[in-house]
Amino acid sequence: MNPAPNLVLVGPMGAGKTCIGRRLAERFGLHFVDVDQAIVDDTGSSIPAIFDNIGEAGFRAHEKRVLAGLLERSGQLVSTGGGAVLDADNRELIGQRGFVVYLRVSVASQLQRLQRDRNRPLLQREDRAQVLQEMAAFRDPLYHQVADMIVDTDLYSPAEATAHAVVRLAALWQISELPA
Ligand code: S3P
Repeated sequence: MNPAPNLVLVGPMGAGKTCIGRRLAERFGLHFVDVDQAIVDDTGSSIPAIFDNIGEAGFRAHEKRVLAGLLERSGQLVSTGGGAVLDADNRELIGQRGFVVYLRVSVASQLQRLQRDRNRPLLQREDRAQVLQEMAAFRDPLYHQVADMIVDTDLYSPAEATAHAVVRLAALWQISELPA
């Protein structure tokens, strides 16, 4: 049994972090927070506008600050952006403050699920498949590094993936701090 004050979801774009995260939060009575949404609320700008105005590095700085603020609290399900694990401090904090679930997805499923997406600046280009493949090669080891548990999402609906995760989480995770 692994105690931690929050559940944290990591994984690539299109893995279902928001959808599965909402369901898991409800199941475990946790407050759901999506880091990208928290950045939008905090800055008053959309994710594409942030990338346009201050670039990826500027976005990562907001991501780091907002994530650290959120993880000071407990009793939450925190759904992170796919690139949050790129930063070593983020990885350390995620591991300290959360029981970490890596939602895994293949590039083929990502391409299908994100076909019509216009909200992810890193994907607004012709060579999506190659971009996603390169991201997967670089980031998969980082997701593994922080993960306490891995859930494959390719073959499952959000409801099925959630059901698998619930059974395993019930055996593996225990909340260590009650929310204030
Ligand atoms: C990103 C993933 C996005 C968002 C931003 C960058 C990434 O979040 O943070 O577009 O680098 O993989 P989701 O994983 O929730 O789509």
